[in-house]
Amino acid sequence: MSVHQSSNIKRITTHILQEMKLRGEKISMLTAYDFSMAGIIDAAGIDIILVGDSASNVMAGYETTLPITLDQMIYHATSVVRAVKRAFVVVDIPFGSYQGNSSEALRSAIRIMKESGAHAIKVEGGAEIKESVTRILSAGVPVMGHLGLTPQSIYKFGTYTVRAREEAEAKKLLEDAKLLEECGCFAIVLEKIPASLAKLVAESVQIPVIGIGAGPDVDGQVLVVHDMLGITQEFKPRFLRQYADLRSIMTKAVQDYIDDVKAKEFPKDSESY
Ligand code: KIV
Repeated sequence: MSVHQSSNIKRITTHILQEMKLRGEKISMLTAYDFSMAGIIDAAGIDIILVGDSASNVMAGYETTLPITLDQMIYHATSVVRAVKRAFVVVDIPFGSYQGNSSEALRSAIRIMKESGAHAIKVEGGAEIKESVTRILSAGVPVMGHLGLTPQSIYKFGTYTVRAREEAEAKKLLEDAKLLEECGCFAIVLEKIPASLAKLVAESVQIPVIGIGAGPDVDGQVLVVHDMLGITQEFKPRFLRQYADLRSIMTKAVQDYIDDVKAKEFPKDSESY
């Protein structure tokens, strides 16, 4: 268990993440989108906080990650950064803010870094976004890649099922991972692919590989915090381990409060001025 004290905190850097891979220490990563949640998971000792575009689903209630805007991502990232003392903060570049060309991609990455104070950006895709990745990296912005099930392409895939089961897609994924490493990415997320392929990728590149639904043989794991705390309800893929049932706890607390208000039991004299 690691709840850090605010003094004497050593911030996580890309260099530390690389060292963790080298010595076989697994990297822990969770999403967060707001100040309060980020403060809790940072103090608990998480290594990386991802301000994921899954905010589109869990914070805004959209069906996909496509609608969230760059301004909205920067708002979430700014709130997270204000709370974080130790974790490395990575922010997703949202759909529609980098695909146009590498200048657009660079402009979006710079806005995220400058306006939020985050430490790195994450971008979905491989060879097709090489130019943008290279340009962002050459501006000194650390880039995390994201391969496998890339939710921004959901309408191309047509389904959220496991990716890269077929040989051709698996081969391209491995090539893309090597390419992202060559470009200079500091880490790669692999989402929902066979565990054997994820293991091969993690062994084939020197940079940390973080899995979500990619089995145990990678360098770290990431989950959406609302899913692992049991706040979201409908989303229950095989890879999700639910560590708490906060939805039930919160529902009971709200019901108790309503009951107390209706019964005139809240507030008491001791809770009044
Ligand atoms: O947006 C997100 O939460 C993500 C994780 C699922 C890796 O990209």
